[in-house]
Order: sequence, then structure tokens, then C-alpha cells
Amino acid sequence: CLWVRNLRLKRRLPGPFAWPVVGNAMQLGQMPHITFAKLAKKYGNVYQIRLGCSDVVVLNGDRAIREALIQHSTEFAGRPKFASFQMISGGRSVTFTNYGKQWKAHRKIAQSSLRAFSSANCQTKKAFEQHVTAEAMELVQAFLRHSTDGRYVDPAHEFTVAAANTMCALCFGKRYGHDDLEFRTLLKKLDKFGETVGAGSLVDVMPWLQSFPNPVRSVYENFKNLNEEFFAFVKDKVTQHRESYNPNVTRDMSDAIINVIEHRQDSGLTKEFVEATVTDLIGAGQDTVSTTMQWILLLLVKYPEMQSKLQELIDKVVGPDRLPSIEDRGSLAYLDAFIYETMRFTSFVPLTIPHSTTSDVTIEGFHIPKDTVVFINQWSVNHDPLKWKDPHIFDPARFLDETGALIKDITNGVMIFSTGKRRCIGEQIAKVEVFLFIAVLLHQCSFESNPSVPLTLDCSYGLALKPLQFSVSAKLRGKLLGLVS
Ligand code: HEM
Repeated sequence: CLWVRNLRLKRRLPGPFAWPVVGNAMQLGQMPHITFAKLAKKYGNVYQIRLGCSDVVVLNGDRAIREALIQHSTEFAGRPKFASFQMISGGRSVTFTNYGKQWKAHRKIAQSSLRAFSSANCQTKKAFEQHVTAEAMELVQAFLRHSTDGRYVDPAHEFTVAAANTMCALCFGKRYGHDDLEFRTLLKKLDKFGETVGAGSLVDVMPWLQSFPNPVRSVYENFKNLNEEFFAFVKDKVTQHRESYNPNVTRDMSDAIINVIEHRQDSGLTKEFVEATVTDLIGAGQDTVSTTMQWILLLLVKYPEMQSKLQELIDKVVGPDRLPSIEDRGSLAYLDAFIYETMRFTSFVPLTIPHSTTSDVTIEGFHIPKDTVVFINQWSVNHDPLKWKDPHIFDPARFLDETGALIKDITNGVMIFSTGKRRCIGEQIAKVEVFLFIAVLLHQCSFESNPSVPLTLDCSYGLALKPLQFSVSAKLRGKLLGLVS
């Protein structure tokens, strides 16, 4: 029996035949997460592919993924040593750094600063909510301005600016106008970030391609430039904060991070980690939140009857004389259900950031050696027919009980923030932000898609899936409200 077990442990992981040099790179297709789910039907939920010079284990389905990330959390908490990862946040990113003592200290600081500014303290929590509401009203005005005279607006840019401004307000106490050209240009470049670090991106697994002039080489160069430019932008703001730092007044999250890293004896990190932390938080918080809102708006115009139902509910709970606030959340379960269903249905972060194993580990009976690259297919969890009835149908009601309340067990089944030791640290803040943005937009405006452009759910692939260009027109529903003080 022991002999059979050992044989199984030593057995090579199943997986498709890998071609010399490129391995399975040419078989990934436009949407690697869909290809991976198909391969799981043939080879099981844990299998191996080869991409260029890296063996990659792909994990699919709720059971295998939770077994790896929760039961073997330390063994699966690594990040591969990809060249592109070293270009991020001045080489000191918390997100793209391998598991170890430094990463642990860094993550703890990032997590506690974020918590202090968004949930732990009543005053800073209120200030954050006011930033979001103010940003949502700027967004309302931008959409209305661009919708005059029968025009339609592509919401992608406006959402990107809104989400980036929320993070800038949190980190620097400063926001930028929707028409600020320098800021828009920087954000437009950042939009391409996810194409390089998304699982299945080939630049890191075929490093030899860098030696020749080719598209992969220019992807690397562009990636390096965009990271340097973004890092310089943040560094400049952090330097200004350092110069005017007053230990008795914490103006924003940059001050809080300067305080912990530079003024406490025990942080274990050098001062360069301050700008790296801020760069990471803005980078992680901007693109994901803006993508969530793009998908939500696309689905709201695709399902106008759901949009009307949400508006009726918001009108009933909030009324016409004030803006929605986070205190209304308990009474607006259908809106949360719509947000969860958008996350599940689109699975817009279909694969997590690539992981790696920190030691040898056995999962579902298969042995995986230390330092193996691991792809985690969140899409497969959210579309598992054993877990979800009609997973390919968009139906927010699946999260509600007969009284209209959210069913916690079902919402917890959606996997978009990953789980385990590398789980997203911005989940709570993102959920509050998205809820407030959408509640305010729906309270103030009705949205319609452009009838002359067919609505499609097609998207571009990267770390986040982004809807292909679509445009909407916004109509004011009642009176345009100011901000509650
Ligand atoms: C990591 C999703 C918003 C900060 C991640 C990961 C995912 C994710 C899938 C990778 C986990 C893994 O590799 O296993 C999302 C989604 C968001 C969102 C869907 C919005 C809807 C945010 C926000 C922040 C943030 C608002 C901060 C303000 C981070 C950080 C990490 C991370 C710092 C790296 C964690 C680590 O490697 O230890 N997020 N995120 N995220 N996220 Fe988020």
C-alpha cells in the first residue's frame, strides 16, 4: 500500500503534451482561464503544463483550490521570480515579492494602514466614504456633461480616473480633475499593466525572447517604462510628504506609512518601502475597482429591468433629498447581490496573480516540487456547475433568500479576491467603494446603451478582463444633489 502511495506521489502530474521550446504556450488561446477549465475536464483539477522554460501547475475547481490555498497556505504563498515582477514598485512590491520574512512584515504594514484608514477608526472611515461620494458626484457630472445633445460616452476612462482619485485622496489627500491631461495620460499607460503580469503572459516564461527585437521585447520595455513613470509619480508625492511630515498630525495614508516604516524602530523595512507600499496600494486599488464598475455599468444597461428595479429600491430606501450612504447597505441587499453576481459571472480577475510553491507539497495526491509556478483558476470556481445553478446565466437573485436578504454562505462562494495567505488586502475597501459609487450613480442617473452599437460581453484578457469599448448615455433622474456634510 505504501509502495502504491509512493508511486502515486512520484507520478508525473497529468497534462497535455508539451512541445519543445514553447511548451503549451501556443495552446492557451485568447482566454487562458477557459482553456484551463477545458483541460481540467480531461486531466482533472490539478495538472501541469509547460510554458517556455517553466513548468506550471494549474489548479481548478473549488475543492482543489481551497485545499491548496487554505490547508497548504504557506506552501502555496510564494510568487515566481519573474523578471517583470522585479520592475514593479521600484523592486520592493509587497504584491509581487516572494514569500518570506520581509514580505510578511511588509504585508502587515500595508494591511494595517489600509484598515486604519477605511474601517478601524470611525472618523477616517467617514472621511473615506465622503471621498468616494464626492468622487461619485464628479462622475455623475462628467457622465451628464458627456451625454448632452444625444451623445454617448465610453465610461472606461471616467471610471479609471474616479477609482484612481479615490486612492490618491486616501494616500495623498489630493484628487485630480477628470480633464487633467497629465493624470489621464499616466492612467492610460497603467491600463496596460495587467497584460504583462496576468497568468499566461509569455514575457517571463520565455526570457530568451528578449534577446531579439520582437513584440515580446517591446512589451517588456513598455512595462518597465510604465512602472518607472508611475513609481516616480508616487515617489514625488511621498517626498513632499516627508518634507512636511509632522508626527502629531496624520494627514493621509502616506503619513501613516512614513510613520510606521521610518519612525518606528521595529518595522524591519528601509524607508524606500514607503513609496513602494503606496505605489502598490494605488496600483492594486485603481484598476480592479474601475474594472468592476465598468462591468457593472455594462450589465446595468444590458438588463434595464434590473436597473429600474435597483432604482425603485434606492428611491424607496433613500428618497430624493439625500444621497445614498453606507448605512443604507443593509436595506439595499439587491444592489450587493448585483455586485456579487457581476463578480461571479464576469470573474474579471479570472486567474490570481501567479503563485509559486515555497516547499515541496502534495495536493490531491500529486507531488509538486518547491519553486513550481502555480496558476489558480478563479473563473473555474465561479462557473462550477456543481456549485452554481446555471452558472452561465446572470442572476443576482441567486444570492437572496425569500425575504430579500443576502445569503452569506452563497456570497462567500464567489472567488475573485483569492483566498489564503495572498488573499487581497483591499477586499473590504473595494466592496464599500463599489457599493457607494454604484448606489450614487443609480440614485442620480439612468443609463442607456448606444442602440447603434451592439452590446457585447466580449473582453480583453489580462490580470483583469476588461469589457471591449462600449458607450452609454446618462439622464438625470431627479434633482442633482450636493454633498451631505
Ligand atoms: C492581491 C483582487 C481591490 C490591494 C489581489 C489578488 C486578487 C485581487 C485576485 C491576488 C491574490 C493572489 O495572488 O492569490 C482584487 C479585486 C479588487 C481588488 C477583484 C476589486 C474589486 C484591491 C484594493 C486594494 C488591493 C482596493 C488596496 C487598496 C491588494 C494587494 C494585493 C492584492 C496589496 C497583494 C497581496 C499579496 O500579494 O500579499 N487582489 N483586488 N486590492 N490586492 Fe486586491
